[in-house]
Amino acid sequence: MQMIDGKTVSAQIKEEIAEQVKEIVSAGGRRPHLVGVLVGHDGGSESYMASKVKACEQCGFRSSLIRFDENVTQETLIAEIHRLNEDTGVDGFIVQLPLPRHINAQAVIEAIDYRKDVDGFHPINVGRLSIGLPCFRSATPSGILMLLERYGIETRGKHCVVLGRSNIVGKPVATMLMQKANPGNCTVTVCHSATPNIKELTLQADILIAALGSPNFVTEDMVKEGAVVIDVGTTRVEDATRERGWRLCGDVDFEHVAPHCSFITPVPGGVGPMTIVSLMHNTLLAAKHEIYQS
Ligand code: GUN
Repeated sequence: MQMIDGKTVSAQIKEEIAEQVKEIVSAGGRRPHLVGVLVGHDGGSESYMASKVKACEQCGFRSSLIRFDENVTQETLIAEIHRLNEDTGVDGFIVQLPLPRHINAQAVIEAIDYRKDVDGFHPINVGRLSIGLPCFRSATPSGILMLLERYGIETRGKHCVVLGRSNIVGKPVATMLMQKANPGNCTVTVCHSATPNIKELTLQADILIAALGSPNFVTEDMVKEGAVVIDVGTTRVEDATRERGWRLCGDVDFEHVAPHCSFITPVPGGVGPMTIVSLMHNTLLAAKHEIYQS
């Protein structure tokens, strides 16, 4: 069993990005600029955003954080998005999800100019992804593919079973792995809350991607010997032994599943750090106008 070390791979990729930024700056260009929009004070969102700002520093990017009170109206938030769309000093921006219930998240996502949508959530980017056109790719699935690639894991002809059908992870990772590409060329099965025979399906998986947000859902009896297991779960569970009172728990019962795997990602330190690196990668592409010309 080999552990997939997302922390080390993400540090390497950030160094590679920082090198490219140095070249841009020494050729007279300006640093890529990522803006984060944060509404309210959700603990998870605050810490994700802090990690994104730190990653920007490590990559040599400029970053800005725009905060709104949780009572902000949808109109005010969308007006700010329109301003960011027009601001030529901003290469890309993200609106951290989840948003308060009174705000229609889909309307907010659709207000973002798809050419600055470095989260890859806008329907134009999602649509382009599904037909194999260049686009900003959603960060978590893109990070998973980077890990498969960097660890030399063969995907062609493999059966990949995805647990979860979210717009942020399940659907886009299934789309990416079924593309005629490398990584890709998988036969993909997507399981969700209405799938009756999940274990029967997971036992067929050469590559199992767990993205349902249900701690320790995947147990050892559900995994084929030698499978590659990617754990996207990051649920906060109470833990009195930790100073902060909680720890992150994945969707896979790591202790019992790991001995049966060829490769497995830990939580934390697997997929999580890669998500942020993919966002940095998208921001660099935006700054270089590599996907959309303007
Ligand atoms: N909330 C959880 N994951 C993400 C993400 O990748 N982007 C944004 N904007 N919000 C999130």
